[in-house]
Amino acid sequence: MTKSKFYFFSLTLMLTLLSCKKEQISVPNSLATPNDKVALGKSIFFDRNLSNPTGQSCASCHSPGAAFSDSSHNTVSPGAVTGLFGSRNAPSIVYSMYSPLTLKYSIDDGSFVGGQFLDGRANTLEDQAKGPFLNPLEMGNVSIEALINKIKMAQYYALYQKVYGSITDANTAFNNIADAIASFERSASFSNRFTSKFDYYLKGQATLTAQELNGYNLFKDTLKGRCANCHPDTQDPNSGQILFTDFTYDNIGIPKNAANPFYTIPSGFNPAGINYLDKGLGVTVGNALFNGAFKVPTLRNIAVTAPYFHNGLFNTLNDVVHFYNVRDSLFNNPEIPANVNHKELGNLKLTAAEENAIVAFLMTLTDGYK
Ligand code: HEC
Ligand code: HEC
Repeated sequence: MTKSKFYFFSLTLMLTLLSCKKEQISVPNSLATPNDKVALGKSIFFDRNLSNPTGQSCASCHSPGAAFSDSSHNTVSPGAVTGLFGSRNAPSIVYSMYSPLTLKYSIDDGSFVGGQFLDGRANTLEDQAKGPFLNPLEMGNVSIEALINKIKMAQYYALYQKVYGSITDANTAFNNIADAIASFERSASFSNRFTSKFDYYLKGQATLTAQELNGYNLFKDTLKGRCANCHPDTQDPNSGQILFTDFTYDNIGIPKNAANPFYTIPSGFNPAGINYLDKGLGVTVGNALFNGAFKVPTLRNIAVTAPYFHNGLFNTLNDVVHFYNVRDSLFNNPEIPANVNHKELGNLKLTAAEENAIVAFLMTLTDGYK
């Protein structure tokens, strides 16, 4: 391992360890209601004072206007420091609360399942929430103490005290913040879930057009679109909800995105420059057999969360469906060639009309249908 590789590895390891430690939170004050905690989590989530330099909140990359993804539709979102970027596209996090706790290998699925982040490197929403505050490519706080000092000065500190008592120890306060954010993310007030045209269709309260219905059938058909193999339209065993993901991981052979600004950030953060390879799950589990695998995302709200895939390669759903259809002939240049799934995608032999129908179906998955 070269020195620079080691540095990058240490950085990744540090962030992973930070996000995996299970720590103590304050005993909630008996006078505080669950709504107080949710309100506190919401205030923290939207507070742009909590980055270094100030100006960036969780909502900067996860905006309610775009199903809690980046409403500026950046390939990868800029960090708080001008000129710095992470390597991945900011996903919608409306349905992230349903991902099984703790990344685990499932013999039934023949895959790892669950966890948070596209590479499963955090187990819970709480663990996840601590990552961005200290990530130099995101909110950039230099230490937990620096962050906690800002919380003490915030308008909502009185609410914080009502829920957790006064801050005496920065590490406990950091855990409390993560606890409050996760409560907000799990609350009904976080977003408008399961209110798409498709949900009303299932309840008999909306009618799909002929094209949408055709698209739905192609989506499910195990000899045609095969999408439901990984994005199931059936009830998730844990929640009983239809989530369009089984939270497994797959390498679907996505090429590098040359337009990813991560390649051009200072070499201290990305020593490999343009040659950087995003190995995804393989790094998290320390096993090259899983290089290039990323978590199957939900397809709910997919029409409003462009660009698509972990590196934001495609701007439209038509491009995505075309990729699944003809990957093996048109896009045979995966970033990580080993482990690419050739069984379920890549040469679907769909017509242009069939591709369009699948896209029409995907457009019925946007919440807030009237
Ligand atoms: C600069 C943009 C940016 C900021 C700021 C940011 N995120 Fe993210 N978020 C991302 C990206 C990019 C990913 C995917 C990264 C990965 O998988 O490595 C992500 C992933 C997540 C996930 C995991 C989603 C899943 O289903 O696996 C959650 C939850 C989340 N963010 C919540 C938050 C919270 C809470 C904050 C504030 C403390 C925050 N984010 C701040 C860009 C951002
Ligand atoms: C073998 C499993 C598998 C199959 C089959 C599959 N997908 Fe996916 N899908 C994934 C994975 C894994 C990702 C995330 C890949 C990444 O970002 O690296 C993904 C990502 C997506 C995205 C982008 C999501 C986002 O938020 O950026 C869309 C859209 C999508 N799939 C639609 C479909 C459609 C439509 C089909 C059928 C034509 C399909 N998928 C078939 C596994 C699969």
